[in-house]
Amino acid sequence: MANLFKRTHMCGVLTKEHIGQNVVLNGWIQKRRNLGGLIFCDLRDKSGIVQIVFNDHIPQELFDRADKLRSEFVVGVKGEVKERESKNKDLSTGEIEVYANDLVIYSEAETPPIYVKDDDNVSEDLRLKYRYLDLRKPKMQKNLTFRHRIMKVTRDFFDSEGFTEVETPILIKPTPEGARDYLVPSRVNPGKFYALPQSPQMFKQILMASGTDRYFQIAKCFRDEDLRADRQPEFTQIDLEMSFVEMDDVIEVQERFLQRIFKEVMNVDVPVPFPRLTYDEAMTRYGSDKPDTRVGFELKCLNDVVKDCGFKVFTDALEAGGDVRGINMNGCSDKFSRKDIDKMTDSIKTFGAKGMIWMRVEENEIHSSVNKFFTQEQLREIADVFDAKANDLILIVAAKPSVVFDSLGFLRRDLAGKLGMLNDKQYNLLWVVDFPLYEYNEEEGRYQAMHHPFTSPKAEDIPMLDSEPWKVKANAYDIVLNGVELGGGSIRIHDQKLQKKMFQVLGLDEDDIQNKFGFLLEAFKYGVPPHGGLAYGLDRLVMLLSGAPSIREVMAFPKNQNAQCMMSDAPSVVGDKELGELSIKVDIEE
Ligand code: AMO
Repeated sequence: MANLFKRTHMCGVLTKEHIGQNVVLNGWIQKRRNLGGLIFCDLRDKSGIVQIVFNDHIPQELFDRADKLRSEFVVGVKGEVKERESKNKDLSTGEIEVYANDLVIYSEAETPPIYVKDDDNVSEDLRLKYRYLDLRKPKMQKNLTFRHRIMKVTRDFFDSEGFTEVETPILIKPTPEGARDYLVPSRVNPGKFYALPQSPQMFKQILMASGTDRYFQIAKCFRDEDLRADRQPEFTQIDLEMSFVEMDDVIEVQERFLQRIFKEVMNVDVPVPFPRLTYDEAMTRYGSDKPDTRVGFELKCLNDVVKDCGFKVFTDALEAGGDVRGINMNGCSDKFSRKDIDKMTDSIKTFGAKGMIWMRVEENEIHSSVNKFFTQEQLREIADVFDAKANDLILIVAAKPSVVFDSLGFLRRDLAGKLGMLNDKQYNLLWVVDFPLYEYNEEEGRYQAMHHPFTSPKAEDIPMLDSEPWKVKANAYDIVLNGVELGGGSIRIHDQKLQKKMFQVLGLDEDDIQNKFGFLLEAFKYGVPPHGGLAYGLDRLVMLLSGAPSIREVMAFPKNQNAQCMMSDAPSVVGDKELGELSIKVDIEE
């Protein structure tokens, strides 16, 4: 086995200050060039890259060994730092190079299947299959270190605020978050299954009943749901819960927490308090409960203006209880072609929109997709709702409210992004509050908790629980950053009678309740403090602050779009013997 050269410096830290010093470096060969009597190598470690020179002053045997080096060989180098003749401005170490006088090859490497450089264009599946090569890239190492910094500041902050980090179990009963569970069979309890936690929700509430007072945890969570850029089946929450608090108390601590994170890891000052929008305001102004407020293009309601217009698309929508709303991409009409508009229409079909009406406002007239159904005066009346001027483009959707909001909420942000108007160095943090307590599940034809069934209703709305439950607002709050839901939480119910009522409205019978939440309700029989909390998606926080395009970029070993680990090949088939031990038979059609 090769001797270990004890490292004196990391590659990326060497500068002119080190000229004349003898250094010992360890790392990977990025590339090697043999120019006859001279061999140049780029040596890379986590901190960066430095150029190593093997010249003809060294013994022939050492020179020959250096000539064997190839990309991704792992080596140790001893040498002297010298000033470089042709400086490289792109490299932090570009003013110096290291003249080698000894070399050890720790391990050789086959030709790597992907390049270890930030700007390779390889498919994501290949990157995930060879994740260890992918992670060698400086950008990926930077992301891991950045994530670590955020976790460190998180732990320090909550520790200093009197929170205790408590680990909660991974093999549990299903949680109330409402996604599909990952199930784990129990060998010693045949036919029975654990669920992996979708969040530590019930355990953290029990910790409040246990007297922990303030809990936090950097917690692994598991949800079997469709994956997107900001969703993984296995992700991490910064989870917390506090006793004897109301919503403003939770929010106040969180604002200081986020302020600290931004200051310490980004050196950015974010002013507190953050703006608060009610859920209703967020929807009617931005068409989203996680509005991106970096740009305007706010929604306007046209119901009153168009109610007697006679145009069937509008009037039918209104008669069916729907809405007619629109946005004004002001000053941007000339930036979108007819073809672009067709693409917009296609893009909102995924939200259930059947079509989109557009109006181009010009100096003296209005061109639109509905010119033959409207007079210029009628079109002007609609345009006035948006204060429209020449070169404005108005986009209108008529449908049931959820489709209108989803479509326009998507368009305003998508188009702003396409126009390069979303500055990723601007951080618009805000709270969305006063969520509805219930939402209607159309597929199942019943009400479900919008947050989870332990979320408390606003005290003044409690009388409506029997008569008009859909009007009841919750003591729930989401924290939103640039159009992404960073976290969410609520003040919980600690009154057993109210909790029972909540379950009744949800249509849960006593058996259901006992089976799902019995242990929590049992714990609450013996004295529980008023409490509330919140959980952030850590991966999303790191993604947004590092400017990464997806949470997969800030996780060491994420799953692909099909929830597979390309590197280890999970999930995989299990043999009959193992299945037999679990009393499980697999029954799938080939
Ligand atoms: P919620 O379900 O809103 O609340 O989750 C909290 C935050 O977790 C993040 N998140 C995800 N991140 C990546 N991949 C996913 N699949 C994923 N799902 C959720 C989001 C989200 O805002 N127990 C409650 C919190 C509470 O009430 O205290 C809960 O889990 O950033």
